[in-house]
Amino acid sequence: MMLHDRIEQLFAQPPDKLDRPAALQAFNELRFFLNNGEVRAAVPSAAVGNVAGWIVNPWVKQGILLGFRLGEIADFSLSDSMRFFDKSTLPLRKLTVDHHVRVVPGGSSVRDGAYLGPSVVMMPPAFINIGAYVDAGTMIDSHALVGSCAQVGKRVHLSAGAQLGGVLEPVNGMPVIVEDDVFIGGNAGIFEGVIVKHHAVMAAGVLLTGSTPVYDVVNGKVLRGSRTAPLVIPEGAVIVPGTRPMSQPYAREQGLSAYAAIIVKYRDARTDAATALEESLR
Ligand SMILES: CC(C)(COP(=O)(O)OP(=O)(O)OC[C@H]1O[C@@H](n2cnc3c(N)ncnc32)[C@H](O)[C@@H]1OP(=O)(O)O)[C@@H](O)C(=O)NCCC(=O)NCCS
Repeated sequence: MMLHDRIEQLFAQPPDKLDRPAALQAFNELRFFLNNGEVRAAVPSAAVGNVAGWIVNPWVKQGILLGFRLGEIADFSLSDSMRFFDKSTLPLRKLTVDHHVRVVPGGSSVRDGAYLGPSVVMMPPAFINIGAYVDAGTMIDSHALVGSCAQVGKRVHLSAGAQLGGVLEPVNGMPVIVEDDVFIGGNAGIFEGVIVKHHAVMAAGVLLTGSTPVYDVVNGKVLRGSRTAPLVIPEGAVIVPGTRPMSQPYAREQGLSAYAAIIVKYRDARTDAATALEESLR
């Protein structure tokens, strides 16, 4: 039976009736395929049912949850003074120089079951969770998070403090997706399965969740996600943090504004200059 079907079947078993050896076997296979990038939580696809060019594989998340369920707390300590404890099923990736990535020393972790393309650079501290897919040439700066199952394209710049939320909690269906050549500014955050199309730029401090209204002042419309469709940031959009007046009478009376993200323009030569990356750091 295909791994996909086995995981769906095992996931449906009640926890106390779980066939543990079969589940462990399936989870280990899943980790193997996640490590080499053959299996992904979401894949670019033009097939029927795609959402903004992506198809989600919910069974990948189910497989990862199985792994959490199966794990027992194990000792991962490095020494008597560097002590770590985690689920036995969630070890760190055994990266070698042959993977052609740079993991700069100092408190970063890549969980096993995350794919890193060649020439990825990770500055410490950074955390890449299981199911994440980080494609070639991407820079993950200090204090950045690539949450579980997040899909990150090629040559993305994830600036210091930027956060890509995971799909495991709260119970989200859709991973965060960031396509090729996106620039995510310092302290920006993307959560709840937002899709950022290629070449978009998020200014420092922009926060996007599925329900953040994004005002596109170039095209005169508001972009939003819904329960059934994720928020999709169009290609090349330049988004800055902003506010909008609140409509409730009491809020108006008090002059309150709420956070909004604003597409001020679409990428131009000036943006390219503002986000140009230093080749010699790669
Ligand atoms: C978004 C960014 C790239 C600027 O892009 P740009 O194309 O040069 O933008 P422009 O200067 O042409 O500005 C376009 C409009 O957006 C506004 N704007 C630009 N950056 C803004 C920001 N960060 N916050 C709020 N408004 C901003 C400008 O005021 C301008 O609006 P206006 O015409 O009404 O004055 C830049 O602001 C930014 O955030 N850079 C990332 C910095 C960073 O995080 N570095 C990482 C280091 S680890």
